[in-house]
Amino acid sequence: MFRHLQTLSSEDRRLRFGTYMLDMALEQYVDRIDLAHDKVFGVFGRDMSLLGMAHLALDRNRRYAELGLSVEPAHRGHGHGLLLLNRAKLSAVTRGYTTLFMHCLAENKIMIHLARKAGLKLVAEQGEIDAHLELESTSHAALAREALEDQIAFADLMFKQQFKWLFKRPSAA
Ligand SMILES: CC(C)(COP(=O)(O)OP(=O)(O)OC[C@H]1O[C@@H](n2cnc3c(N)ncnc32)[C@H](O)[C@@H]1OP(=O)(O)O)[C@@H](O)C(=O)NCCC(=O)NCCS
Repeated sequence: MFRHLQTLSSEDRRLRFGTYMLDMALEQYVDRIDLAHDKVFGVFGRDMSLLGMAHLALDRNRRYAELGLSVEPAHRGHGHGLLLLNRAKLSAVTRGYTTLFMHCLAENKIMIHLARKAGLKLVAEQGEIDAHLELESTSHAALAREALEDQIAFADLMFKQQFKWLFKRPSAA
């Protein structure tokens, strides 16, 4: 995750975290991600490198899920951002969370476009925008969809892992 976040320019880091972040601060952020409770989703390249990630921080008491997204500059504009946003939204629904929340800067036109596209409501205040969505309660259809998406993601990862392994093997002379 740290390697992926390091590919973000200082401006992208400000858009993602709301403040400038040096490498050390990114490292601390990654260390603090609570993998036992939060959810992290990734988009992986053919070489298994992480091209984009979504961190869904889950507040279990308030049933409130906060999302942060990033995609490597070289891989933007291919739908990865929207895919991660929708995957995180589905995960919040199936875990029974009632609100999905995103915080972004008012100049972040791409994120605002994506949030609107995913149905989040936007509230602007002093150069910042809070985007939130009241989530529908979970259903069998949502659970089935998540299970199917997990299976597809797993198959895709296995395929990429094998592809990487095949092309790393030294050729027999
Ligand atoms: C926001 C971010 C995750 C989007 O990733 P992405 O993979 O490029 O997203 P997608 O390809 O799914 O969608 C990009 C959309 O923005 C649109 N877009 C591109 N430039 C735009 C602009 N200047 N204004 C408005 N929309 C724009 C694209 O047309 C596309 O929409 P479409 O599919 O309806 O045509 C990525 O830009 C990023 O990592 N930014 C830095 C970190 C950040 O801002 N994070 C969000 C705050 S948490």
